[in-house]
Amino acid sequence: MPERTYILAPSLLSADFANLGSEVDRVIKSGADWLHFDVMDNHYVPNLTIGPLVCEAIRPHTKAPIDVHLMVEPVDALVPMFAKAGADIITFHPEASRHVDRTLQLIRDHGCQAGLVFNPASSLAWMDHVMDRLDLIMLMSVNPGFGGQSFIPSTLPKAREARARLDAYERESGRRIRLEIDGGVKPGNIAEIAAAGVDTFVAGSAVFGAGKDTDPNRYDSVIASLREALQGVA
Ligand code: DX5
Ligand code: ZN
Repeated sequence: MPERTYILAPSLLSADFANLGSEVDRVIKSGADWLHFDVMDNHYVPNLTIGPLVCEAIRPHTKAPIDVHLMVEPVDALVPMFAKAGADIITFHPEASRHVDRTLQLIRDHGCQAGLVFNPASSLAWMDHVMDRLDLIMLMSVNPGFGGQSFIPSTLPKAREARARLDAYERESGRRIRLEIDGGVKPGNIAEIAAAGVDTFVAGSAVFGAGKDTDPNRYDSVIASLREALQGVA
């Protein structure tokens, strides 16, 4: 297998919403690769966050890919809206879509990369018949809805299983699908998660909770610690 490149995707959910533009600028300047954008509808999950309007507002702040995580039901109507608002990647929970294959196709038809999100109790079997339509899959290592929860340890064997499936697919198709993880990722556990085969890491509270409010470079050291922990992972 060719070498893996690691992606860090800070979740804006834990950012200072009164200063979102400068939060985006700072986290990207500190070396983040993607911006993770959590969309919650108070229906699929018991919380309410941000929509396409906010995505459009932050788009001019960065060229970094915006990774839109839809925790909404139904899904389809929001896909064109987020594509228009500048999303690069759109993921959704299969349980929230009536027609998973159609939703994946819809995302790609709108020029974005498409992915499925697996809750802690969701079966990986959701990916079986749609591999060709996937650019990434994301495993939830907490139940969706809130930042700042603890990493659920049973996600590690699940990540190893997902990695084996994605590697088998890559051997047969030559196409690589990213494996992302979301929830409770910190400098202290990221190496273990990477060793289980994950290549893309969402971190909300660990990044945006770091440093002193007044320090303009407050995210530098946490991003550096996350990267440092990834060095030397086999
Ligand atoms: C939870 C969200 C996550 C969340 C992660 O439903 O999907 O992206 O922001 O936050 P932390 O890193 O604090 O667990
Ligand atoms: Zn998320």
